[in-house]
Amino acid sequence: MDHSILTAQVLGFAEAEPWYVPLFANVSALLYETMPDLNWAGFYLLRDGRLVLGPFHGRPACIHIQMGKGVCGTAAAEDRTVIVPDVHRFPGHIACDSASMSEIVIPIHAGGAVVAVLDVDSPVADRFGKEERLSLEAVVRVLEEKTVFTNPEPVCRNAYFAGGCFWCITPVFAELPGVSRVLSGYSGGREVRPSYEDVKGRRTHHRETVRITYDPNETSFEQLLDVFLQNVDPFDAEGQFIDRGASYTLAVYYTSPAEKRAAERRLAALELSSGSAPAVSVEPFAAFYEAEEEHQDYYLKNPEAFAAEMDASGRNARFNAARRTSGEDPET
Ligand code: SME
Repeated sequence: MDHSILTAQVLGFAEAEPWYVPLFANVSALLYETMPDLNWAGFYLLRDGRLVLGPFHGRPACIHIQMGKGVCGTAAAEDRTVIVPDVHRFPGHIACDSASMSEIVIPIHAGGAVVAVLDVDSPVADRFGKEERLSLEAVVRVLEEKTVFTNPEPVCRNAYFAGGCFWCITPVFAELPGVSRVLSGYSGGREVRPSYEDVKGRRTHHRETVRITYDPNETSFEQLLDVFLQNVDPFDAEGQFIDRGASYTLAVYYTSPAEKRAAERRLAALELSSGSAPAVSVEPFAAFYEAEEEHQDYYLKNPEAFAAEMDASGRNARFNAARRTSGEDPET
């Protein structure tokens, strides 16, 4: 086997895309297709103290391997290439495929520590010698140099707040730095695909809710939460302004333990400073159903009706007060 062709191909894959999922998938397929007499070629990645199955080529395999167990766990724990000429003579060999007779496992490092292993199996005894070891170790050196192991962070996140009438709460968030979209919809009930009339007519358990899509590098859940609380009446348990009834009550639908903690902390602080318990329900996010098109960006589509609703509802007075405290000019 010519190492240089193999490593050049691996380098080509890595340069096209260094993220480990496509890279390890293609390297598994390449090894499986180019090395004779293999029945499995693939990767296990170290996560939470054990090895977890990664991209591979061959039959379905065991998903978790404890450090120190099997050939893979031994190679990872002892940080060395392990060649097993006859798997039946290796105590603790994990037989994912009973056809496997011999095996080689090579640790893969990042930041000075083992983070994964390359595992190659053969149905032929004593398949892996010095030459195969050198070739596969050369492949691993390329991977160590090029692979990106982190999962890409989602560029945007969603926050979900029920703040009474969604027409009115949308513009509060729409222009904030880092916010790319505010959608009107329904959350909190179990009914699937509710209509505006269903929610308004209290035929569901949903609340009018907005979904705020934001870039976490530019703003944060905590900042959005503050804006939310400044623009509602947090002590009204029966609705918001002129909109009365359960579908107009306040809720934060959290999508992570961190959001839940942030909401609970903020509401506890508000209770302490005001002496009253805020009427804001903190609930796990379950589903968000987009409202009908005519309810999206209502303030842009119907500026006059929107202004009238804002005046009639008493929200304008509240927003202007909030903007005065934050130093903004309410008339601009
Ligand atoms: N035989 C391995 C388990 C993984 S499979 O070969 C795909 C071992 O003993 O670690």
